[in-house]
Amino acid sequence: MSATVNNALQQSLVDLIALELQSKQAHWNVRGPQFRSLHLALDEVVATTRTQLDEVAERLAQVGGTPDGRPATVAATTILDEIDAGLLETGKAYQLMAEKVQQVSDNVKSFIDPVDEEDHVSGDLLIAVSAALDLQAWFLRSATE
Ligand SMILES: [Fe+2]
Repeated sequence: MSATVNNALQQSLVDLIALELQSKQAHWNVRGPQFRSLHLALDEVVATTRTQLDEVAERLAQVGGTPDGRPATVAATTILDEIDAGLLETGKAYQLMAEKVQQVSDNVKSFIDPVDEEDHVSGDLLIAVSAALDLQAWFLRSATE
C-alpha cells in the first residue's frame, strides 16, 4: 500500500465528510433573499459530496487502507474551519460555502499528480471528485456575481 495514495484518499475523505456536514448546517440555517435557491443548492452540494466521499472511502479500502470517517477524526483532521453556529445570511452564505467547496476541491487537486504517479485509478477518482466540486463551487459563486 502506498502512503501517498492512502494519505491523499484519507484526507479527501474527511474533507468531503466535513463539507457534507457543513453544507447541511448551512441548508438549515440560511435566511434571507434567495433563501429557497440557496437552500436547494446546498442540498445539491450535500448529494455530490455524499456520492464522492463514498467512492473515495471505498477506493481507500480497495488499495488496502482503512477509511476513518469517525466524527472525532473528521473534526481533528479536516482542512475546513468550523462553520459558525446560528443563522447565516444568504449573501454571506453563498460566498462562504462557495469558498469551502473550492477549498476542498483545490486540496484534492493538489494530490492528483503524486497519487497518479503511483495509482492511475485513484488519481482518476481525485480528478472526478474535484470536477464535481468545481461545478458546485461555480454554481454557488455565480449566484452572487
Ligand atoms: Fe432539507
